[in-house]
Amino acid sequence: MLSLVLGLICFGGVVSYPSDNLIQGKFPPDFRFGISTSAYQIEGAWNVDGKGMSIWDNFTHIPGNTKDGATGDIADDSYYKYPQDIQTLKELGIKNFRFSISWPRILPDGTLDKINQAGIDHYNRVINDLLANGITPFVVLYHWDLPQKLQDNGGWLNETIRQRFADYSDLCFQLFGDRVDHWITFIEPFSISWIGYEVGTFAPGVKNNTAVYVAAHNIILSHAQVYHNYRAHYANVTGKIGISLDIIWQYPKTNTTENIAAAARALDFRFGWIANPLVYGDYPAVMRQQVDKKSKLQGLPRSRLPTFTPAQSQSIKGAFDFLGINQYTTQLVEYQHLTDTVPGYFNDQDAVFSLDPSWPRGKPDSQFPTVPWGMRYVLEHVRDTYNNPEVYITENGYVDCGTMQDQGRIDYIKAYSNNVLQAINSGCNVKGYFIWTLLDDFEWVTYEDKFGLYLIDYKSDERTRFARASAYFYAKLINTNGFDS
Ligand code: NOJ
Repeated sequence: MLSLVLGLICFGGVVSYPSDNLIQGKFPPDFRFGISTSAYQIEGAWNVDGKGMSIWDNFTHIPGNTKDGATGDIADDSYYKYPQDIQTLKELGIKNFRFSISWPRILPDGTLDKINQAGIDHYNRVINDLLANGITPFVVLYHWDLPQKLQDNGGWLNETIRQRFADYSDLCFQLFGDRVDHWITFIEPFSISWIGYEVGTFAPGVKNNTAVYVAAHNIILSHAQVYHNYRAHYANVTGKIGISLDIIWQYPKTNTTENIAAAARALDFRFGWIANPLVYGDYPAVMRQQVDKKSKLQGLPRSRLPTFTPAQSQSIKGAFDFLGINQYTTQLVEYQHLTDTVPGYFNDQDAVFSLDPSWPRGKPDSQFPTVPWGMRYVLEHVRDTYNNPEVYITENGYVDCGTMQDQGRIDYIKAYSNNVLQAINSGCNVKGYFIWTLLDDFEWVTYEDKFGLYLIDYKSDERTRFARASAYFYAKLINTNGFDS
């Protein structure tokens, strides 16, 4: 009650948030519970067996780029310890496992000129071991570790990368497509583009407010090219390929017309930026308007937001079998005219964003407070705005400081997955729910943010794994396939 009163005072005007009531009930019988990981965050073995250098190897080795010089050189040592982790999945009853292929482990320079058999052998072993244990692999082609050689040539800013990505993906389909029938091209194009190419605090560390839009443009076109190649040459009856987009639910800070419009705009800028082209063949109208307007005021000869040719527009439209959604939290949005002349992704939106301090969180500085109803709103938004596509929640997770009795994580998983069930009951086409993540891992610039169902002892060479309370909770949720009274 006290926090509600404080909420009303702090946010003068947000009368109430949507309901957080949980329901009883079961998920559909074919619903897939799973867990997600990524190569650079867990594998380690950064320079062994012929692997090439990635932009993350490069970035983390530059002093000052990460907290206390942290790198993924060893990380969770999963390159060697994957058999143990697969046994853990089996014991927990987790039947779907999302992992990414490290592009430079297979193609050290990023191109077909040099193919690294040891890398191929590794992923064959992982896939075969998963299948032998009754676990379905969901394979990600790009979770951020671009071969450095391609970055030296401009990375996602150089349109030749589209063919490089198509070549690499085609090789993966040839090599693994006989056993893998769930593929994801990209994880979070937003994060790749905005954090990597405008803010520059993630690899490759570019700071440029035009680059942000160019990178995303090339990613969207790359995705579509790979989608069509897969469908034309590799997809068997069950084969599916999608893309994972992140979405923070955007809630108006107060109920004014301006704030409501700013929140809708923020959704278009964040999720619609990639989803609109893939569903409707072009960027959201509001993005086109705002970025064109700001570019003109800057005196630029053309808009910072690129355009699709009619042929490109045709090819990107409908180019996915399912949409992956990474959903963690909600933001409050307040309209504020920022500036006409200073460009940038957020300036283009004219809004400021905040988190309600009363929302529970596992770490004082967490950017991912627990707001379970946001999940339901996201799914209903996707249902209503994007023709109710097939959706997988490809990431949802809770960050804390690493406690073993992680009740906050249990509450989070319970409430978010329950909101997924509520969304399914209201007609959303959700096929699965994947937790981020199995093990504590390298959270890109630090090891201090703990997301794992398992704690890793980073002081031990063994990288010993310890099950948290949430691991048993998740096993029970999967086993029950829902929520009993
Ligand atoms: C987004 C990314 O896909 C993943 O790599 C990251 O660790 C989590 N979400 C948490 O921030």
